[in-house]
Parts: sequence; structure tokens; C-alpha cells
Amino acid sequence: MITFKPHTREDVPLRVRCLNDYQTVLYVLDQPSDPTTEELQNKWFDTYEEKFQNGIKKFFTIFSNDESIGFMGLSNMNREIGNASIFILLCSDEYRRRGIGRLSMNYLIGYAFNDLGLRSLYLEVDKANLIAINLYNRLGFQEIGEDGRFILMTLSRPISLPVVSFMIPSLV
Ligand SMILES: CC(C)(COP(=O)(O)OP(=O)(O)OC[C@H]1O[C@@H](n2cnc3c(N)ncnc32)[C@H](O)[C@@H]1OP(=O)(O)O)[C@@H](O)C(=O)NCCC(=O)NCCS
Repeated sequence: MITFKPHTREDVPLRVRCLNDYQTVLYVLDQPSDPTTEELQNKWFDTYEEKFQNGIKKFFTIFSNDESIGFMGLSNMNREIGNASIFILLCSDEYRRRGIGRLSMNYLIGYAFNDLGLRSLYLEVDKANLIAINLYNRLGFQEIGEDGRFILMTLSRPISLPVVSFMIPSLV
């Protein structure tokens, strides 16, 4: 069963494993072969906690039963404009291409629009990252431009139109 929990400091070992896995970060990090360490990720977590308190970041850890298998989140959250950037990493090939990315992103998008009331989400994805591009297309993200090796995409909260009832004027 796939479940989602708020990202905590206990996830530092997952972050180290994930960010040091070349296949996972190939299209995500500028320098995919630069190793990270527990110390660096603990420092990262200090900054994360500050940004979380200020409502700028909100990350979730993805679990398959009791095993943490990835993480995803919202960054650069701006409640006035109503937008945020969104990302996801599944940290082992064993868990990819099985629909977990779609399930997880659906959860996070629902949380962003319904619970936080955000109006739009944006992301950048490497042009070579075909699985991610397919995933974002399937979720309804629209391409809005390019920046070097990246495609920029955005998703707007669906507008639920109020039900309007009106009378057809009588002809007599
Ligand atoms: C990108 C990622 C999140 C996608 O999650 P996933 O669980 O592997 O993808 P899913 O199984 O949910 O598939 C989603 C869509 O991708 C497409 N897809 C799946 N496998 C594919 C493949 N081998 N080739 C091309 N497209 C594929 C399908 O269109 C699928 O939609 P479907 O429901 O119609 O089948 C995941 O592979 C991952 O974490 N990759 C490494 C990190 C990364 O690149 N993150 C994205 C940063 S922008």
C-alpha cells in the first residue's frame, strides 16, 4: 500500500540514498555525480524546517507499506499569488513505471489545490526525461516554454463553475 507522510529528519538516510543514486537524479540535479552526506542533508533539513515554518516548502515522504521509497513536495510557495513549484523523486528503479508517480502526484496536487487553496503549480523537467514528461502530460500540465535543457510546465486549479439556473422568457 502506498501512503504519504510529512517529510521529517528521520528521512535524512532516504535523502542520502536517493540523492546519491545516479539513475534517480540523472535528470534532476545539475551535478548528478556529486555525492551528498548525512551531514549535508542534516544541514539541508535545518533550512527546510525554517522554510516549512514560513509556509514556503511542504514535502512528503512516499512509503510502500513501511518502506520509504521516495519524496515529493511543494517549494517556493506564494500564498498571495497562489502558486508553488512541485517535484517528485522515486528513489529506486524497482518502484518506477508502476503508477506510483501518478498516484503520488495526484495526492500532492489535490493537497495543493484543495487543502492549501493554491491556484497553480509549475515545474521544470529535463527534455530527455520522457517518463516524467509523460506523467506530467497525463496529469494535465501544459508546456509554457523552455529554458535550455528544461521544459517549463504549469497546471491550474480546475475552475468549478457555479451552477447557473435561468428562466427562459415566455414568448406569450
Ligand atoms: C518521473 C517519475 C516520478 C515517474 O513516476 P513513475 O511511477 O515511474 O511513473 P508512472 O508509472 O506513474 O507513469 C506515469 C506515466 O509515465 C509514462 N511512462 C511510464 N513508463 C514509461 C516509459 N518506460 N517510457 C515512457 N513513458 C512511460 C506513462 O505515460 C505513464 O502514464 P500511464 O498511467 O498512462 O501509464 C519516476 O520515474 C521518478 O521518480 N524518476 C526519477 C526522478 C525524476 O526524474 N523525477 C522527476 C523530476 S522532474
